[in-house]
Amino acid sequence: MLRLGRPDVKSVLRERDWWRDAVIYQVYPRSFADSDGDGTGDLPGVTARLPYLADLGVDGLWLSPFYRSPLADAGYDVADYRDVDPRFGTLADVDTLIARADDLGLAVLVDLVPNHSSDQHPWFQAAVAAGPGSPERARYLFRDGRRATGELPPNNWRSGFGGPGWTRITEPDGRPGQWYLHLFDVHQPDFDWTCPDVRAEFESVLRFWLDRGVAGFRVDVAHGLIKAPGLPDLTRTPEELATLPTHASPFWDQDGVHEVYAAWRRLLESYGPPDRVLCAEAWVSPPERMARYLRPEEMHQGFAFDFLGCRWDATQLRMVIDAELHTMGAVGAPSTWVLSNHDVVRHASRLGTADPGPVTGGIRAGDPQPDRALGLRRARAATLLMLALPGAAYLYQGEELGLPEHTRLPDEVREDPVWVRSEHAHAGRDGCRVPIPWSAQAPGFGFSPTGATWLPQPPEFAEYAADAQDGVPGSTVELYRAALRLRREHRLGRGRLAWVSAMSSEVLAFDTYGVRVIVNLSSETAALPDGWSVICQSGPLESADAVPVDTAVWLAPARTCG
Ligand code: NOJ
Repeated sequence: MLRLGRPDVKSVLRERDWWRDAVIYQVYPRSFADSDGDGTGDLPGVTARLPYLADLGVDGLWLSPFYRSPLADAGYDVADYRDVDPRFGTLADVDTLIARADDLGLAVLVDLVPNHSSDQHPWFQAAVAAGPGSPERARYLFRDGRRATGELPPNNWRSGFGGPGWTRITEPDGRPGQWYLHLFDVHQPDFDWTCPDVRAEFESVLRFWLDRGVAGFRVDVAHGLIKAPGLPDLTRTPEELATLPTHASPFWDQDGVHEVYAAWRRLLESYGPPDRVLCAEAWVSPPERMARYLRPEEMHQGFAFDFLGCRWDATQLRMVIDAELHTMGAVGAPSTWVLSNHDVVRHASRLGTADPGPVTGGIRAGDPQPDRALGLRRARAATLLMLALPGAAYLYQGEELGLPEHTRLPDEVREDPVWVRSEHAHAGRDGCRVPIPWSAQAPGFGFSPTGATWLPQPPEFAEYAADAQDGVPGSTVELYRAALRLRREHRLGRGRLAWVSAMSSEVLAFDTYGVRVIVNLSSETAALPDGWSVICQSGPLESADAVPVDTAVWLAPARTCG
């Protein structure tokens, strides 16, 4: 039973609305820590490393999917929402993990994947077997094809991973039959959320995990559940769509999603206090549309992907931060900042490219390679910026080590369906999912007791290993520890941001809860203001009165003697 907020544990979870400024660490179980030596990370591996997370100073962790799955999309293809894949452990391992996390004052969020299941899910198997017009088919989006023989897909929608969005099945009698929609891989059929069975099933799944003690859910593809009535053809070009609100597309951000989340919020509230939370993974624009997910009766958090995707440019960052704070603030929601996750090029590499903006397609050996030193310097500065902003923040495993993307993975080891479905136009996301290094000298950098790793690690991971940084002044892990401690002490997540405009337009400067934050994105050093002392710095300061290029500092009012 969940004991969130035990009085004997130093934890933000004692507060009812702890999520407003929580820092949550994303664990990608397959690549975090392997306890049994098979080269795949697992839940006992996570449990063994929970003291590391508590020591880092985060408030909780979000576990990417560990459910029973053929892993056609790394577990975002769920075959059983109430069981653990044997490669990751057992339900008993989840219980142990939650109990140990609770002892350490860490909240555990799990991933909920409601837009689609695996094609191995019993419901999909039953739908195929039951035939057209059956109640089993009504749980998914099966349609007849166009033309008299049905040989053309029902509409022109494409999969987000590349290729057609529809696949035709063979009916039980052996004839070519209906088509089913999959906005992602062919092995991920979309549910039909107008079907009452689907709604009831997911409410039951929510209860299953809440009863086991989870503190909340990161909701996958939260903007995709409802499709426009009649499934009309997409009439806009990709270029047009890029300039239009997301809901110009008939399968994203349709208004009907909101009643689903309102129902879930009511369900979660029956478990509190403290609050159990919903965090939206919704790639939605403009920000006003995102705010609709975060109205008081809906979700608690939603990732600020405009921040993650913003160029390393002070003016643009300031605009994104202002828009985010203003728009989410208007509905009483916190902003939820994030710089890296398992779907994008790690920020330590992204910010070291010639054009440091969003990179979602991955980087291959033949592509221009990021500048590792530059990327890391900027990544550390970006992290200090993020952790000073009012609101919540999510970290991605390995970023506290300054870990770069693996940009030279051999093509033959790639597992991301994006690689295949894009017909090799995009490398995909494997480069940010490589098992992380714990120990510089051990085989597999200590990821597993045998040294086995499901994806190969590059030799330079040795430099980033946790044990090579532990206790080393100025290391990235020590920077994260210091920043998280100071953020908590100064309650920066609850602060109010006030820009300080006296500095150059290429320098971000703001005050929040008595702390001044300066991030120098210009090409020359920026003067430190008088009367302030440095309490945290993302990199070395060459002199006591200047902030170097691509460096961030937190300042507190200097104490005067006498
Ligand atoms: C978003 C997840 O983060 C991503 O990894 C996955 O491929 C898609 N949703 C489909 O579930």
